[in-house]
Amino acid sequence: MSSLNLAGVSLHYGPEQTGLPVLQNVSLNLARGEFISVIGRSGSGKTSLLNLAGGFVAPSAGRVTVDGKPVTGPGPDRAVVFQDDALYPWRSVRDNVALPLKLRGIDAATRAEKAREWLAAVGLQDHQDKHVWQLSGGQRQRVGLARALASEPEFLLMDEPLGALDAMTRDQMHELLLSLWEESHAGALLITHSVEEAVFLSTSVIVLAPTPGRIVHREEFEFGRRYLEGEDPRALKSEPEFIDARERLLAAIYEKELVDG
Ligand SMILES: Nc1ncnc2c1ncn2[C@@H]1O[C@H](COP(=O)(O)OP(=O)(O)O)[C@@H](O)[C@H]1O
Ligand SMILES: [Mg+2]
Repeated sequence: MSSLNLAGVSLHYGPEQTGLPVLQNVSLNLARGEFISVIGRSGSGKTSLLNLAGGFVAPSAGRVTVDGKPVTGPGPDRAVVFQDDALYPWRSVRDNVALPLKLRGIDAATRAEKAREWLAAVGLQDHQDKHVWQLSGGQRQRVGLARALASEPEFLLMDEPLGALDAMTRDQMHELLLSLWEESHAGALLITHSVEEAVFLSTSVIVLAPTPGRIVHREEFEFGRRYLEGEDPRALKSEPEFIDARERLLAAIYEKELVDG
């Protein structure tokens, strides 16, 4: 089973390496089939953590590896979905999904087929010829997901991909994300500021505290798997265990005592 591993990772931006690190001694392991969410206050290093996993920045200390091999840059094994959809608005939905495959030298017929397959998976089969500027925010994020998944990555890295969506669209996206995660067999790493989203979706939630960014709390959950096994999402989200978990994680984010404990 493939896994993306951060071992004792610290990060200083800039060459001087002065002051507190942005991340300090962070270790986590994301195996395929796992769904890890990272929550924490603004500035706690969540995006930096994702950038390390993506290979966009290199650690100042420690190691980032995939199956034991050092990560030296971005790669098709690790697809990224950003908060701002980062699509080409003037191109068609299909081209947005197919373009990264083209850049990797994949032939036109395969590109078209993969684009069709993943656009259908995110419910956009009837929108393939539209331009991105004609889509709603939720539809754009679904194009971003289809694009990421069309590369059949081993790991799907997402930085607050649902942050700009309204509450109803977000709830629908949660269910879609879980189905796509199951179907793709990818390991998912999700940065989110929604504690509820983290508890519902994840097999494991990590809380970062700021200055220096470090892991102060971890917990495992089964709600997402239970949803995929057919349980009702609203019933799951109103279970006492769900509500307790949400409160515990909020406390871990905001309470100094817990943070230092
Ligand atoms: N490219 C960068 N250069 C210098 N400092 C940065 C850079 N990116 C982020 N930072 C700093 O690192 C800290 C953590 O930022 P970030 O990882 O974006 O946190 P989060 O996503 O949790 O809000 C912040 O203090 C931020 O100002
Ligand atoms: Mg961020």
